[in-house]
Amino acid sequence: MKKLVVLTGAGMSAESGISTFRDSGGLWDTYKVEDVATPEGWYRNPQLVTDFYNTRRRELQNVEPCLGHKLLAQLEQEYDVQIITQNVDNLHERAGSTKVCHLHGELMKVCSSRDPNNPHFIETLPPDHCDVKIGDKAKDGSQLRPFIVWFGEAVPNIEQAAELSSKADIYLIIGTSLNVYPAAGLIHYVPEGCPIYLIDPKPVQWNSMLPVHHIMKGASEGMKEFIERLKG
Ligand code: APR
Repeated sequence: MKKLVVLTGAGMSAESGISTFRDSGGLWDTYKVEDVATPEGWYRNPQLVTDFYNTRRRELQNVEPCLGHKLLAQLEQEYDVQIITQNVDNLHERAGSTKVCHLHGELMKVCSSRDPNNPHFIETLPPDHCDVKIGDKAKDGSQLRPFIVWFGEAVPNIEQAAELSSKADIYLIIGTSLNVYPAAGLIHYVPEGCPIYLIDPKPVQWNSMLPVHHIMKGASEGMKEFIERLKG
């Protein structure tokens, strides 16, 4: 089976009702990145950060995968589909995708604030009990923190993502402004001659000499057109 490698961003979940970061009205218009998505913000005000991720977790319980997520999952019948996502939601998994590499962490997981990437202390929260309180401890006795990669923190899965990107037969990018590294640098691992498609309703700053087929549509309509082009 041909390897279809898919890099997704917040735009993938926009049609599920989850706001993106940099569109107007996006998350970074409402919250300051340095307050809720950096280690400094966490040390300065862990209550604010805990509340921010509790709100996003509760929101996630009330949304469903969009048609784009579902069409992507269905492609596993014909392709070896590997998703690399910058998203921390679980909508790819809930749509049925079986190979999902999360670069920036996972909203439904929490971890040790002393040793965030130690797998012994990473826990998955149940949908009906997804709020964390100050005072909730990880198994190492430290305060539970969101299992999220904050700005300035290492991206443990980037090597795996680069390896996966280097093996693509077809590369598809959906719903990312390609603003944030190292994720945005993955396009440089795509093999020479591998066709690259981009699904995004707006122009995206394409920082590569590689040619890209831009399907200027939303994730769901864009996936329909992408599937048609694969058949063509
Ligand atoms: N379908 C597809 N793409 C869409 C849609 C849609 N319905 N609506 C918006 N988009 C596109 C926007 O045009 C934009 O290019 O999705 C992209 C969203 O870009 P960002 O908001 O910057 O999100 P993303 O690229 O995922 O951000 C990367 O930044 O803040 C960090 O960790 C956070 O993972 C995030 C990273």
